[in-house]
Amino acid sequence: MSLYERIPNNVNLSSDKRLLRALEHWLPNYLQWWRDMGPEGFQADHVYLRTAVSVEPGGWAHFDYVKMPDYRWGIFLAPPEHDRQVGFGDHLGQPVWQDVPGEYRNMLRRLVVTQGDTEPASVEQQRLLGHTAPSLYDLRNLFQVNVEEGRHLWAMVYLLHSHFGRDGREESEELLERRSGSSEKPRILEAFNAPIEDWLSFYMFTTFTDRDGKFQLLALAESGFDPLSRTTRFMLTEEAHHMFVGESGVRRVVRRACELMRETGDDDVRRQGAVDLPTVQKYINLWFSLSLDLFGGEVSSNAASFFSAGLKGRAVERKYTDHLALEGAYPAGGEQIPLRNAMNEVLRDAYIEDCDRCLERWNHVIGEHGIPYRLRLPDRRFHRHIGAYAAHRFDPRGARLTGEQWNERRDEFLPAEKDFAYIRNLMAGVLEPGQIAHWIAKPTHGINGQPFEFEYVRREP
Ligand SMILES: [Fe+2]
Ligand SMILES: [Fe+2]
Repeated sequence: MSLYERIPNNVNLSSDKRLLRALEHWLPNYLQWWRDMGPEGFQADHVYLRTAVSVEPGGWAHFDYVKMPDYRWGIFLAPPEHDRQVGFGDHLGQPVWQDVPGEYRNMLRRLVVTQGDTEPASVEQQRLLGHTAPSLYDLRNLFQVNVEEGRHLWAMVYLLHSHFGRDGREESEELLERRSGSSEKPRILEAFNAPIEDWLSFYMFTTFTDRDGKFQLLALAESGFDPLSRTTRFMLTEEAHHMFVGESGVRRVVRRACELMRETGDDDVRRQGAVDLPTVQKYINLWFSLSLDLFGGEVSSNAASFFSAGLKGRAVERKYTDHLALEGAYPAGGEQIPLRNAMNEVLRDAYIEDCDRCLERWNHVIGEHGIPYRLRLPDRRFHRHIGAYAAHRFDPRGARLTGEQWNERRDEFLPAEKDFAYIRNLMAGVLEPGQIAHWIAKPTHGINGQPFEFEYVRREP
């Protein structure tokens, strides 16, 4: 089978010999990376996965059993918009660029590489989780997220290979060389260097960190560099499932806790072998705050440059009336700052609003069980390592703490080693069709119309 048949695509790959050659060189290195750093222990199994086969709204995904190393990672761009114009910044109203504008080459490369680096990083972070999956349904969802993050890497590498020449080829190799958590060659962003060792962390990561991804992609989908816009628009369709996995995962953990509280009359569901709501809250505090850092500093001249250049806009730019953003101030880091310098904060605010809706849905489950407890997002100042609040300590309500107070109370706010140990202890792989771990509720629906009992992963003996 020739290479362009191996790679489903809508970019007319077969006609672009130069690009084909570049990808031919990169593909074996990618597969080697997948074997070394992809899901450990399940590479020979048959997994019921969806594969992107086109960009048609109703028919883009094909479901079937596939061994992960044989997954067909494709290259898809959303269809071009006729006469599309730059929608914001200094080039407002000019035709979008099909090629990289020389003066913005470095900035654009940095945006593409930073986005691209997160994709393989998350696969590396999650590589050991399969062994402790609470059900075959969850195992399959983990692998679906993993192969699609792999495809997102392909999407960024396609841009690097087709628009950035030799630099792009070098960057593509480096994307396969950095390693999550490595001391010599770590991944670029800090939240992508911590291993994810339990399923509650995985659901939190896919809720909060993949949702950061959604907002970065929404901002890049506005880009005046049209290939980047079209690539990220299609990535967003896949990203929605990742956030579903996270949000519904946490919801099922919460539901199980509530069920056990109601059945036993005992509020401490740890005694019943499940996850108590205060621990869920601590995990929220951790993953929400780590994910807030991914938006960068409150005041950012880089963000202003990306906006001015028309490379990275705001989420759903058409919701705004003023696309120049030259006037007016925005509250960020406790001050009013010029709007263009506040673009990170504008995006973070949109993200926080979206996260709030998740919390509402989780709290709805608690309310249904008549339990007087509410999960909440911590204040944006809490536990930050980047930006205006990084130099001080705050509690989850946003009240300033001294270093000493923080040290005394830290374990009230964030998972302590004994909390992590408790959660890790609950994790034991339940890999029989129709079975589910004790600490989580079954999903209400299966995947692609299949029942929960479906054999989502066929283990090779
Ligand atoms: Fe992704
Ligand atoms: Fe994702």
